[in-house]
Amino acid sequence: MDREKIIVIDFGGQYNQLVARRVRECNVYCEIYSYKTDIETIRQMKPKGIILTGGPNSCYEEGAPSASLELFKLGVPVLGLCYGAQLMMHLLGGHVCKAPVREYGKIEITVDHSSRLFSGVQDKTICWMSHNDYIENVAPGFRVIAYSDNCPAAAVESVEQGLYAFQFHPEVLHTVEGRTMLHNFVYAVCGCAGDWKMDAFVENTVKALREKVGDGKVLCALSGGVDSSVAAVMLAKAVGDQLTCVFVDHGLLRKNEGDEVEEVFGPNGPYRLNFIRVNAQERFYTKLKGVEEPERKRKIIGEEFIRVFEEEAKKIGKVDFLVQGTIYPDVVESGLGGESAVIKSHHNVGGLPDYVDFKEIIEPLRDLFKDEVRKAGLELGIPAKLVYRQPFPGPGLGIRIIGEVTAEKVRIVQDADAIYREEIAEAGLDKEINQYFAALTNMRSVGVMGDERTYDYAVVLRAVRTIDFMTAEAAEIPYEVLTKVMNRIVNEVRGVNRVFYDISSKPPGTIEFE
Ligand code: XMP
Repeated sequence: MDREKIIVIDFGGQYNQLVARRVRECNVYCEIYSYKTDIETIRQMKPKGIILTGGPNSCYEEGAPSASLELFKLGVPVLGLCYGAQLMMHLLGGHVCKAPVREYGKIEITVDHSSRLFSGVQDKTICWMSHNDYIENVAPGFRVIAYSDNCPAAAVESVEQGLYAFQFHPEVLHTVEGRTMLHNFVYAVCGCAGDWKMDAFVENTVKALREKVGDGKVLCALSGGVDSSVAAVMLAKAVGDQLTCVFVDHGLLRKNEGDEVEEVFGPNGPYRLNFIRVNAQERFYTKLKGVEEPERKRKIIGEEFIRVFEEEAKKIGKVDFLVQGTIYPDVVESGLGGESAVIKSHHNVGGLPDYVDFKEIIEPLRDLFKDEVRKAGLELGIPAKLVYRQPFPGPGLGIRIIGEVTAEKVRIVQDADAIYREEIAEAGLDKEINQYFAALTNMRSVGVMGDERTYDYAVVLRAVRTIDFMTAEAAEIPYEVLTKVMNRIVNEVRGVNRVFYDISSKPPGTIEFE
């Protein structure tokens, strides 16, 4: 079945995934491909429209990412954004050069309402700009449809050729009416019908899974995180007790988390899952003994996880299908989709695990962004509390403890983190901060408690605001809230005498603390 779709061609810009998400928010399916994708492949996908993203290069420089001229002659509407806009002009005979004034930030543009792209948009509207180069002369056949003080061609179009270009970023929320503009592009220009809806996706996927699995046996590694939970419930809806879920408690989960997962997915929960909980805490602590280096810890946890899972799988015997909760950003970030650099190897993408005897892998969420996975979860009736859980890394607290991991340190982080989460929720901040947790520095220092001298650990609190988890800023938490958390932690958690708040952004930091 040909699903109606828009294609995003990625030139290495930081907002590539955001563009695709915004299009999907218009109920139109959208996929990201590298600019190196050959033109025949693109043609065969029969896209309803193509969007070229921004990127860090100058299009007139030698070796800069480029596109085939044929891309503009497919008879499919093309919208270029920032670098994509400049490249379109450059390739089609316009002139792009270093701008006399670099534009960065929220800039007011004046739009021409005779363009379909600006239907319903105010005469003067705020856009997010970030460019050193600009379009000095537009390509033949194009006309200017928006300008700013320093950018004479902030948007251009050639309706006859079906080509459109914005110097600004409509996908970023700072562009106040960006959604309307993208909506206009996919509906008024590309003529999309808007058939990408989560209820239909869930229904169709459940049906397709049922057909695929037949009377086969399915195995799923359940972590309690959003992705594996949604994948498991989807399979449970499709094939009921042909599904077995294995939940490995590696002793690096948040406080009480193992029991919470068991409550929902265990034998007394609402789903008819065959649920196996493996309490492997001691095994993991033994393997991690004396290990300090972060990547090494990640490797050990990953490998041990596989070993435990393998042992359980062997007890079940042959299975036909193995479920993985891979989601679309994993696919893109592993370099399989777009152009973004591989920042971190994702343990759940690429390569089939060879440790379980199975016929085929099933990845029911492979096409979905995180917010779509959550919507699918709600459609499936998974409790909102679980669906809106904040991200939690696979290696768990193993990468929130600097230095050697011990049972004692795990206990300290779990207790401090539980207090922190409770107080953030109590202050009503839990919805606006994207990720927050306590971690343990490996630092011990002298303190005083009553009449006694202490030599205890320092806990660090982290809280970030982020859109895509690729960049992040530390959240500004009211001082009273931080003070209350500090007081409770030093009083209630044995072994801690100092609490720090981490104000670093990403970059140069990361979100996790390892
Ligand atoms: P960093 O620390 O790289 O984290 O800024 C970015 C986001 O990714 C999550 N993260 C992981 N998630 N397995 C996961 O499933 C991992 O190994 C892993 N490492 C980091 C992190 O929590 C944050 O949301």
